Amino acid sequence: MKIKFVVNNENVEIEVKPNETLLDVLREKLFLTGAKEGCGNGECGACTVIFNGKPVNSCLVLAPEADGAVIETVEGLSEGGKLHSIQEAFIEATAFQCGFCTPGFIMSTKAMLEKIPNPSKEVIIERLSGNLCRCTGYTVIVDAVKLAAQKIRGGK
Ligand code: FES
Ligand code: FES
Repeated sequence: MKIKFVVNNENVEIEVKPNETLLDVLREKLFLTGAKEGCGNGECGACTVIFNGKPVNSCLVLAPEADGAVIETVEGLSEGGKLHSIQEAFIEATAFQCGFCTPGFIMSTKAMLEKIPNPSKEVIIERLSGNLCRCTGYTVIVDAVKLAAQKIRGGK
């Protein structure tokens, strides 16, 4: 079947199978490989994208459900070669090691900061609880999110 959606401000019209996941469409058909397949069953958050304003596990979304949706992936964050403040904050706080989880954390962070511009540590931990990281121990990720929030509030 053919579906249409918007991804990173671009209109897409694409043929999909009814049982294909949005993650597979993004990675394999649109070559947007920022969203990662970790668990494939909604437990790790590595595949997080923003779907109609909310963070979702794209491994759990069937491609036909994306018909008419507005989707943001990590590839859409930088503008004119300049990284987004959240990306800069993750680099400055060294909030990753292998980096596999990072695009998912960044997209969950973006969705959160759009609703909660100055989250407490407790809120950050709660809102990012669907994203797992095997490497960092999370402290530096919380630091990065606080730094990102500061940068965005400061207009940077
Ligand atoms: S790959 Fe989607 S939640 Fe783990
Ligand atoms: S940096 Fe390796 S899983 Fe998070």
